[in-house]
Amino acid sequence: MAFSLVLCHLFMIVYTPQSNKMRADSDGMECHVLVIGSGGAGVRAAIEASAYGDVVLVSKTIVSKGGCTPMAEGGYNAVLREEDSCEIHFEDTMKGGAFLNDPELVKILVSESPQRMDDLILWGAVFDVTDDNKVAQRPFGGQRFPRTCYAGDRTGHEMMTTLVERLDGLPVDILTETTVIDLLKEGDRVVGAFALDDKGDSIVIKADSTILATGGGTRVFDISTNSASGTGDGYAIGYRAGAELIDMEMVQFHPTGAVFPYDARGRLVTEAVRSEGGILKNTLGERFMKQYDPERMELSTRDVVARAIATEINKGRGTKNGGVFLDVTHLPREQIEAKLPVMLEQFLKFGVDIRTEPMEVAPTAHHIMGGLRITPRGETTLPGLFACGEVAGGVHGANRLGGNALAETQVFGKRAGESAGRSEKRVRNVDLRQIEGQQERLSRFLNGSVNPATVARELQLAMWEGAGIFRNANDLRSTLAMVMHLPASDLKAVSARNLSECCTIQNMCLTASLICKSALLRPESRGAHVRTDICHAWDAQTSPFAHTYISHARQGIERRSHT
Ligand code: FUM
Repeated sequence: MAFSLVLCHLFMIVYTPQSNKMRADSDGMECHVLVIGSGGAGVRAAIEASAYGDVVLVSKTIVSKGGCTPMAEGGYNAVLREEDSCEIHFEDTMKGGAFLNDPELVKILVSESPQRMDDLILWGAVFDVTDDNKVAQRPFGGQRFPRTCYAGDRTGHEMMTTLVERLDGLPVDILTETTVIDLLKEGDRVVGAFALDDKGDSIVIKADSTILATGGGTRVFDISTNSASGTGDGYAIGYRAGAELIDMEMVQFHPTGAVFPYDARGRLVTEAVRSEGGILKNTLGERFMKQYDPERMELSTRDVVARAIATEINKGRGTKNGGVFLDVTHLPREQIEAKLPVMLEQFLKFGVDIRTEPMEVAPTAHHIMGGLRITPRGETTLPGLFACGEVAGGVHGANRLGGNALAETQVFGKRAGESAGRSEKRVRNVDLRQIEGQQERLSRFLNGSVNPATVARELQLAMWEGAGIFRNANDLRSTLAMVMHLPASDLKAVSARNLSECCTIQNMCLTASLICKSALLRPESRGAHVRTDICHAWDAQTSPFAHTYISHARQGIERRSHT
């Protein structure tokens, strides 16, 4: 009974953009490039790929509303002034990333980010400007030059709106509220994806090339800045298909997330607040950053500031809500109103007027620096599969500088889109047994017994406790064991509409396990990854270790020789 119900819902459908209706078709959809994910990287990739053929863009949410880019507040790093240089941006990024970054990818990031900024401006993005009408830049942590361009404190929103408008008239079909369940393969090659629409109907999309641009996954932690879609789908989908991932242990905890009200815990309090002059204080009134980084103070790198705040809280110098104070009351009201309007409004909703009272903040899981291993062309280790944006690893090393993620979406979104677009057109075959396998997987959810929300909650609490800012092997092992024992294969979908939720929870569990396994593989503290059980004070520059890697084929840590 359950199986026939699911088969009925799993009938293949195809989207016809002209009629804006779905129609049944046993052959499914076909396109030259399939882009999975509709944040800054995905939309940028789709724009680029559309120059070479037809593109299908699949969005789990509504394009421009979900994902991290529209929520990114602070800014976009680009070298725009003569006093600045790509060499300094490169050095800042490598040092900030504890020299775990792939230098080739970083060179590309810093040299191409200004051109991608020009694209955005050409397409209509409005960034803040100086009195002499040049793009304004603010200082962000760990950078020796104020190179973060911004649109108030809603930079990502401005970028996203611009990118989505740019899609108009391009040969890009958008499937909204559609969840990719897994990639389809022919031998080693990725040849498309199997997806579900919001009603639980299945869609087979065959493609010459596929780009994963699914963003991050810090929703696997209890406290996170990510929107509901930050569930690590791309890491899990890529891993299941056989791609190699690197440095999955490298999770960035943003120093400043909201601590109350309860439902807003973890919400981003942008680094722009500290950039504009905000100062951090503990409950003794001490500006504690002078003990942790007397030179850079509040504008130290995020790993340092997050650890400092967590330490102050752990030592009992935090507020009763579990945070520390972030204070801008010494700044002119006009500056707060003009430069931090979203923060002002957000905190007013929480009953705090930041013009007259300090905010309370604490670290929140924000970004995964690891991800699918990519080449400068955005190729993953699987033929036919490209990746860009947060789901790809290597650019940010062990700790990302604020402002480098938005730049990364544009630089590597364009590159992945171009590479995928240029790839050859092929006869598209899909072995139907893969689709049957997916249908069986989904049908099991209709007979499952466990509430997916309960599993997600247990996972998030366990990850926050055992794989958070401070880690040790015992906690990581027990968290991993706990994650592996979660009943992810027995999840219950109450109807076909809930099938994708079950797949998402499975993705969260798999992503969490990759984080724990990778964290156990790295026997050193480096950047955002702190192992309190390992006392060697290795200097990141002379560390014998490079990337951790994990795939079906192999897992371990690379050793590197220093010259
Ligand atoms: O703090 C922020 O505005 C975040 C920026 C980023 O993660 O790049």
